[in-house]
Amino acid sequence: MKQPSLVTVDNPSDHQARQNCSALEDGQLFFFPRTPFEFPEKEQQFLLHLRRSDSHFHKNIAYRPLQDRVTGAGSLSSEDREQLHQILRSYSQRSIGFLTEFLEPYASSWKLEYASFRPFQEQGRELSTRKRNDLLHLDNFPTRPTNGDLILRFFTNINPSQPRRWIATGPFEDVVQHFKDKGAVRWPRMLSGWGSLKYSALQQGRRFGLPLTARPPYDAFMLRLHHRMKEDERFQQDCPKLHIEFPPGSSWMVFTDKVAHAALSGQYALEQTLLISRKSLLSPQQAPLRILERLSGTSPLNDLFRR
Ligand SMILES: [Fe+2]
Repeated sequence: MKQPSLVTVDNPSDHQARQNCSALEDGQLFFFPRTPFEFPEKEQQFLLHLRRSDSHFHKNIAYRPLQDRVTGAGSLSSEDREQLHQILRSYSQRSIGFLTEFLEPYASSWKLEYASFRPFQEQGRELSTRKRNDLLHLDNFPTRPTNGDLILRFFTNINPSQPRRWIATGPFEDVVQHFKDKGAVRWPRMLSGWGSLKYSALQQGRRFGLPLTARPPYDAFMLRLHHRMKEDERFQQDCPKLHIEFPPGSSWMVFTDKVAHAALSGQYALEQTLLISRKSLLSPQQAPLRILERLSGTSPLNDLFRR
């Protein structure tokens, strides 16, 4: 069990895919001083200019690769919207193309999630505690359960002059045990009886298009942990931290549901998310789900959600 550390990649071809996966699973962050694929200057300039000219951009702009669709683009002209769409599609395709080789063992079973453009300044945003990005947290999908698969995020800083400043802490085991010892979280339990029925009913409702969330125990636990972490001022202040500055033009990636992190400042970043099947991990025992099983002594957490 180690604190998170940084693996710097100057030349991706010097690195072996299996070793890359192992380092990620071990809770390390990969840092690429230069973004490891083409990202034309004119595309970056378009994104930077877009922010300045549209006051409606106060949220992420998302690109959904599976539907080839952009959401959250504000009130753009159809011409700008089309260009934005093309740029986000290209970023998504290039980052996925790069990762397909760099993390080859995962590629056949990963699930493509959204890409996003983050045009706002992270420092000083007026958000509720649970929504703040500048407080240490572990990521989760509140409305789309991962069932124990891992959230991998690849980021790129396109700010022309300012770094993106992060902090990270860990290891995952220590973070979880800390909040368990404080009584802030309870171990996830297998659903049975009424709990299983309720879960199945919610799932059924979702299939019929009702705005319901069916959250398996693992995802419910991770969401609670996310909230408790952000709400704990002492933890935020006192835990050991790795401070990182990602300069303009650089990229980085990490399992954001295994490595606790926060973005203290920075503006204009892109990001591609992939959901990595826990079955494709080289060391499945390093998955947060397995770690929780070990710590809690319950196994499996719930057969209902095994795939
Ligand atoms: Fe995050």
